[in-house]
Amino acid sequence: AAATGLNLDDIQGDILVGMKKNKQLFYFFSIADPTDFKGKLAADILPLITTTNQLLSVSTQPITLVNIAFSQTGLTALNVTESLGDSFFAGGQFQDLPNLGDPGSTNWVPEFTGTGIHGVLLFASDTDDNINNSVASLESALGDSINKVYSLAAAARPAPNVGHEHFGFLDGISNPAINGFTANPMPGQSNLSAGTILLGETGDSATRPAWAKDGSFLVFRQLKQLVPEFDKFLTDNPIVQHGLTRQQGSDLLGARMVGRWKSGAPVDLAPLFDDPVLGADPTRNNDFTFQHPNAVLSKNQTRCPFSAHIRKTRPRADLSTPEVTFGHIMRAGIPYGPEVSAHEAASNTTSTERGLAFVSYQSSISGGFRLLQQTWADSASFIHSGVGVDPIIGALAGAPRVISGLDPTNAAKTVRLTTDFVVSRGGEYFFSPSLSAIASKLSV
Ligand code: HEM
Repeated sequence: AAATGLNLDDIQGDILVGMKKNKQLFYFFSIADPTDFKGKLAADILPLITTTNQLLSVSTQPITLVNIAFSQTGLTALNVTESLGDSFFAGGQFQDLPNLGDPGSTNWVPEFTGTGIHGVLLFASDTDDNINNSVASLESALGDSINKVYSLAAAARPAPNVGHEHFGFLDGISNPAINGFTANPMPGQSNLSAGTILLGETGDSATRPAWAKDGSFLVFRQLKQLVPEFDKFLTDNPIVQHGLTRQQGSDLLGARMVGRWKSGAPVDLAPLFDDPVLGADPTRNNDFTFQHPNAVLSKNQTRCPFSAHIRKTRPRADLSTPEVTFGHIMRAGIPYGPEVSAHEAASNTTSTERGLAFVSYQSSISGGFRLLQQTWADSASFIHSGVGVDPIIGALAGAPRVISGLDPTNAAKTVRLTTDFVVSRGGEYFFSPSLSAIASKLSV
């Protein structure tokens, strides 16, 4: 990709490109000795950080990719006191818990309940061995300057489900294009100013310290997925429509909850049956707006429910034409946990945790992740009153979720979900700084 304007040697690689490796490790740490750590940050970590430019060409990619990000308490530990201009980052995710739909902290990973995590190292590679070697060598270099608090090993699912999240749907299809960076935006891709994702770039109007330029806020969420329970719900509640078998009705229900079929084909373009050729075609699989020339179609939910996950989190022309420039994130998540076992499938019950290690980058946590999660997905009246919450990620602190629009033949019909198929295990808000910020500010 030919880039103009952005310093791609200074921007960490995961932000705009994504590490996109089969294995990834999130290594959460606390800083035990700030002075010692600063020296090691400059000498041992900085040379390992994978830049955007390095990621863009396979020939320059190291064997193991490394990125780093800090929480507010991490920056404070490093005596970096200027405000980054984002109150949610400053408060940390645990303080924000009551606003995110999570039913208290009972399901949270204990290490996320508080502000004890100072930073996260992201390692990515083709094999676990490569990652383990990198971790071991960095741990020995860092010595007692940090303590490991928690880690989460994540991995792409095995063939034929590579690239699919655990419910089975192809993920990573729709990420925004960045003006001046994305060489060939695909039809239907949103086009954003760099400042929507990167601090201090065009389009970011908040006041930031100069050194924060080209950094990005990293929202991490460990989202457990109840896959056998989700599958059972689809099996039990097929959409009944003339010409569909029971299985096809179940598949249609799942597709309408997501807004895409498992292949990635959008239901807005393929309303009744999956179309794997469409799903695999990047020139067509994002090329829709939810609007159709027929006025009746555009007002109803025959093709895609208003509550569908991708319509909630990116309403496209439902909000405005051209599309609004706010409310966009760059997603870089990866599944974690094993495949569903035969026993789990037979009992319709999860016994081993699996889910999505959700990562999003944005220049504003309130205008990015929180807007999508809280204001859109968790609101039963977005985008119209009565549409219900997002059936995938919408959460009401554990209360039953009532959703309409899932049945194309009767949009007013409501479905009451007593199970949250996605359970938040918490996370943290981080800042992923530029390499020059690490060199000139964080490590001195
Ligand atoms: C798209 C699944 C959590 C925001 C998608 C897609 C799938 C999916 C299958 C379609 C593929 C694509 O367009 O790339 C999931 C699952 C989640 C989850 C299973 C939880 C376990 C979240 C969260 C957010 C989010 C927490 C933000 C708060 C989005 C956005 C899109 C998307 C913005 C792209 C919409 C578009 O551009 O059309 N997700 N997701 N997702 N998801 Fe999620």
